[in-house]
Amino acid sequence: MTDLTESISAPPVGVVGTSHVRLEGREKVTGAARYAADVPFEGLAHGSLVLATVARGRITSIGVDDVLAMPGVLGVIHHGNAPRLNPEAGLLGTGDATLQLLQDDRVPHVGRPVALVVAETAEQARAGADALVVTYEEEEADLVFSADHPGSYTPAAAPEKHKGDVDAELAAAPVVVDQRYTTPQEHHSAMEPHASMARWADGRLEVVDSNQGSFLVSYVLSVLFRLDPGVVRVRAEHVGGGFGSKGIGPQLILAVMATTELKRPVRVALTRRQVFATTGMRAATDQRVRLGADSTGRLRAIDHDTATHTSTIHEFVEFPGEVTNALYAADAIRIRTSLVKVNLPTPTWMRAPGCAPGSFALESAMDELAEAVGVDPVELRLRNEPEVGPISGLPFTSRNLVGCLTEGARRFGWADRDPRPGVRREGRWLLGTGMAAGIYGAGSLPSTAAITAHPDGTFTVGIGAADIGTGARTALVLVAADALEVPTSAIRIDIADSDLGQAWFAGGSRGTSSWTWAITAAATDLREKLADIAHIPADGITGRADTAPLIGALEQRENHAHGAQFAEVAVDPSSGEVRVRRMLGIFAAGRIINPLTTRSQLIGGMTMGISMALHEEGLRDAQFGGQVNGDLAGYHVSAHADIPAIEADWVPDYDPSNPSGVKGVGEVAIVGTAAAVANAVWHATGTRQRSLPISLERIL
Ligand code: MOS
Repeated sequence: MTDLTESISAPPVGVVGTSHVRLEGREKVTGAARYAADVPFEGLAHGSLVLATVARGRITSIGVDDVLAMPGVLGVIHHGNAPRLNPEAGLLGTGDATLQLLQDDRVPHVGRPVALVVAETAEQARAGADALVVTYEEEEADLVFSADHPGSYTPAAAPEKHKGDVDAELAAAPVVVDQRYTTPQEHHSAMEPHASMARWADGRLEVVDSNQGSFLVSYVLSVLFRLDPGVVRVRAEHVGGGFGSKGIGPQLILAVMATTELKRPVRVALTRRQVFATTGMRAATDQRVRLGADSTGRLRAIDHDTATHTSTIHEFVEFPGEVTNALYAADAIRIRTSLVKVNLPTPTWMRAPGCAPGSFALESAMDELAEAVGVDPVELRLRNEPEVGPISGLPFTSRNLVGCLTEGARRFGWADRDPRPGVRREGRWLLGTGMAAGIYGAGSLPSTAAITAHPDGTFTVGIGAADIGTGARTALVLVAADALEVPTSAIRIDIADSDLGQAWFAGGSRGTSSWTWAITAAATDLREKLADIAHIPADGITGRADTAPLIGALEQRENHAHGAQFAEVAVDPSSGEVRVRRMLGIFAAGRIINPLTTRSQLIGGMTMGISMALHEEGLRDAQFGGQVNGDLAGYHVSAHADIPAIEADWVPDYDPSNPSGVKGVGEVAIVGTAAAVANAVWHATGTRQRSLPISLERIL
């Protein structure tokens, strides 16, 4: 294991590591904080989406005239009159045809936006959208994803990855676990539905949006509409959750089209059903995991095959093998992915992409292996702890999964566990406990920041960060205060504005590490400038930083946050009801900036993981492709009554590759949760649950 002693024992600095409530908390709880759909604009018009009702085909007519005659309707944007977009635009990489809205008469899947009705009021726009008659020439659609779909192929983005001879090790291993695990389509369900306002003002395209990174969104918009990047300004001051779904939304593209055509500020706010239909989902997966081990549980082989799906218009690859990449040592490891294009919406990142479904499979299989070899599940994981990256052979930046496992086991009371399944009863309930480990990538991505010192002794920090409800703003102020050696009260922060310059987005759990690095470097630059002058002029002195060259110079390392989760469940075998009674997560996620908001985010991740384990499942009609539960009445997410006492805490860890030692906690907390619950359900009932969600009928 990496020796952490030196870095962990570095003296704590100032306010980093102490708990602070969110700076904008009062504004949020009093309703003063304005989200994208709340900001008032003079002369605002409203747009409402019309979505395709067929799974595949061609638009043959759009009844524009009837809708234009309706009260308040200002225009109908459709493929016949929409501005032409640049097909090279994409959020990461190029050429994502998911963004090419209203460009032709093709319908690649149900729910594809086919028109935007714009009117004086939101109600008039919605009435117009409801009334718009669109006719189609339907074509046969391919709607059902399955692992043996004849169109399956290995995507270039996820080639086979391996070390050693997996087949030989599996053949020689005295104990083999060979099982299939499935996870369904899942939806992000952020509390705030996607909304955007766009207008042209003083020669600039001004956007107020709900997104995870205003700079990236402004840049993609500029490419998409062939504008000079400096012309576009995107802001997203308050965002009510994203979980990966708030990149560049359809509502934004259509709002920009409408304001460009109609010369009016236009707001487009999605309904909840439109959020389900148009903002991406986690793709379903069908995974086969084979573990070969010796009789002590030491892994000789891990073989992890995933089948998953994307749309016919863009290749997005959900990659569960990510978790197998670095969690355990084994003599041989193989990761394979097979993808099929079906007439469904393009999937996208959803909290812990890859690792969340991947950990359900791998960590369930590890529990089955523990049972097969008669080794305690915690001990089994300790026995397979790698010294270096299991496939890459690279050293870890730091790794304290052992600390998570041992501290978690101690605090949960794991040592008292009777390993036999199905033997604890309490009235009508069968009781069980289970655990799982988790991992999620860490690292920093290039970002810029500026800090201005004012003559009155205060400072303004400007960084294109996004606070999607995580407390990012507050964490960044703590880091700035320490870097400048001033109290937090001396610092004002501006975020979520593309005019603040390039910065990584709130994604991949890399926001805090990326942004704090830029802020720390800008503070250094500012302090050097201040050292050379006697007085700060009225307009202040500004220090700046761009971390791209610093990050480019880093040596390659395996860099991950880790966690171990423990669950106790009660199962009623007569009703099929599963209740999680308590849950504990212990994480090693680098240095913790703000314990209060970090704990909150970890508990949030585990809550979403319980939801994944027991409730979430996007269901589609196999004949027409429509989602039959595309709202929060039909698509269940965990409610308060489903969530027991969850405890989240951490053990020492420190990422030496960025100045704050941060790894990020946005995603690691959902990794392993579903497996811990499923393993506890097996311990309670004696029956393995290899398909999510563990709904009542699966227990019965
Ligand atoms: Mo996260 S799924 O990278 O927004």
